[in-house]
Amino acid sequence: MRRLGVWGSLLMLLATLGLTACASMGGDATPAPSLYKRLGGREGIAGVVDAFVANALADARIGPAFKSLPADKVGPLKTNIADFICENTGGPCSYGGRTMKDSHRGLGLEKADFDACNAALAKALDSKNVAAADKEQVMKLVASLMNDIVEKR
Ligand code: HEM
Repeated sequence: MRRLGVWGSLLMLLATLGLTACASMGGDATPAPSLYKRLGGREGIAGVVDAFVANALADARIGPAFKSLPADKVGPLKTNIADFICENTGGPCSYGGRTMKDSHRGLGLEKADFDACNAALAKALDSKNVAAADKEQVMKLVASLMNDIVEKR
């Protein structure tokens, strides 16, 4: 067999290292599914929102604020909350509601109300068997809205 020489050997070495690096990167160009997809798409999110609103209504602290809404406002509210989550988790929806500040202005919400709402959402995500890491991402998204929602500190 012909000898490769120094440059030939160097090329072989670089080619081997390159192939090893590609293999260790998985060599898979498929992007990871978005949080939106992992939540089951718009339908999965709607299921979480249904459970969330049911939990919120049953909560002694925040239930009254939701119960005081006229019946014909509950459907659009659920749609808006689901669109909001969809849009903010990489989904193809566009949220058509008011800003978080505008929609909660005047409700006089305290940090304890916000915590009760978070608990209702966490329970809803658990009831839909959302994976722990995905649940954490949704809860982080909601936590980032606190300053716009809580009025009384
Ligand atoms: C946990 C974080 C929260 C998120 C992500 C959230 C999200 C939303 C969204 C998207 C809307 C719809 C706005 C619209 O339709 O224009 C809304 C409205 C509303 N939220 Fe929240 N909310 C949160 C916390 C709370 C809390 C703690 C309460 C306490 C009771 C509350 C009570 C309400 C009520 C009563 C409305 C309807 C307001 C109206 O249409 O007059 N929310 N919320």
